[in-house]
Amino acid sequence: MRPRLFQTTSVRLAALGVGLASASAAVVFGVIYLGTLGALRTTLDTDIDNEISEIMVFGARTPPGVVAAGVRAAIAEPPTGTFFRLDDAQGRLIAGDLTLPMPTPGWHDLVAQHGAALAGHIRVLRARVERIGGGGTLLVAADATMLDELDELIRRSFLIGFGITLAIGLAAGIGFGRRALARVEAVSAAGEEIMAGDFTRRIPLSGSGDEFDHLARGINAMLARIEQLMGNIRAVGDEIAHDLRSPLARLRESLELMLRSGDPAVLPAALADAIAQVDAALALSAGILRLAQIESGARRASFAMLDLSRLLEDIAETYETVAEDAGAVLTARIAPGLALAGDAALLNQLFANLIENAITHGGPGTAIIVTAGRDDGGIAVSVADDGPGIPPERHAEALRRFGRLDASRSREGHGLGLALVAAIVGLHDGTMVLRASRDDAERPGLRVAISFPVAG
Ligand SMILES: Nc1ncnc2c1ncn2[C@@H]1O[C@H](COP(=O)(O)OP(=O)(O)O)[C@@H](O)[C@H]1O
Ligand SMILES: [Mg+2]
Repeated sequence: MRPRLFQTTSVRLAALGVGLASASAAVVFGVIYLGTLGALRTTLDTDIDNEISEIMVFGARTPPGVVAAGVRAAIAEPPTGTFFRLDDAQGRLIAGDLTLPMPTPGWHDLVAQHGAALAGHIRVLRARVERIGGGGTLLVAADATMLDELDELIRRSFLIGFGITLAIGLAAGIGFGRRALARVEAVSAAGEEIMAGDFTRRIPLSGSGDEFDHLARGINAMLARIEQLMGNIRAVGDEIAHDLRSPLARLRESLELMLRSGDPAVLPAALADAIAQVDAALALSAGILRLAQIESGARRASFAMLDLSRLLEDIAETYETVAEDAGAVLTARIAPGLALAGDAALLNQLFANLIENAITHGGPGTAIIVTAGRDDGGIAVSVADDGPGIPPERHAEALRRFGRLDASRSREGHGLGLALVAAIVGLHDGTMVLRASRDDAERPGLRVAISFPVAG
């Protein structure tokens, strides 16, 4: 199921952001609103209270005549935005400059629309109504239009600000959400194509270097490795099928020969031949398994610091006699104290393979030289012979699994030796090069140079 836009993290984060921004804006506006308006209202109310106490000098017991005189005096003062009205007990106007129905005693906000005829631009009046002696009523009011306008301004600003925050937040969230969805969908589309069998498919990068690109690069590297492994498996399968054929065909031939001849005298030789074929097939499958295990990298777990010099000395000693028996001469020039983190059994196999190759493929009379020493920042080991060598254009073929050059077909081996060497070198993060060991067109020899990096 594809994720929906409003389920994306981007949209949810945007909604959360908008919520928080709105909440903080509400608090800020609230403080401004209450602070400013509250202070202004208090000032206005104090002005009104002062006017009333000036007019009603004796409080509630001030005689109506004194109140009327006070009102007239206040009206006579230069305009201050304050308005007055004094009614008698029957509701008749005694003095004042406001013509509107007298409200009940107490505080009021008189709005122009409510039938009150207020002067000119005035929209709201803040008013206080007091009973006076003799049943009359006094109203003192102040222009509160500014207060009203400010109230509206603050409310409108808040609504506009809130609306803009909401719009930008949601637009950004939806935009980012869409983008994220598109990227995720590109990944799952690539995944589907890969599952359908296209192992060359990769996840497209946007080139922005964002977290999706980072993820895509990681996944692509993984896909490349998977593709390579799949290719290996396919190739190995083909090669196994191909290479097991010959020992099995020969085995079948030997068995058929035994069956046909009916001569017990040929039996021991034929059986020995059959066993040799079976051994060849077994050795081949063991080699393939070993190679697969090394290439998987699992053996790295068993790496330990080892004395490479000692290891090489031991191999050289072991193979000295083997070389002698084959009419070859093995010389070792190994620097002492070369330490390397690795797998001793595999390293043994690596150098044994190279020396065996030099003995087998170098031919009688070959001089084999094993060298080891420090190389800038690493360890350099080489195995060289002065045999027929391998022409440069056939190096790749020799290194391949089951790759054997024509001249070697008749000799023992499965063509796994150099492939194993390459895999073991790779497992130890080393590099390997094949080249001629000397300047001789007849017998250029083969020199396999390996360098291992030394950590730290
Ligand atoms: N020292 C060498 N001199 C000449 N040819 C070699 C040497 N080492 C390897 N080769 C060639 O490379 C091929 C692959 O070697 P390898 O993978 O060890 O397979 P094999 O089982 O044939 O020894 C050999 O069959 C041989 O043709
Ligand atoms: Mg070999």
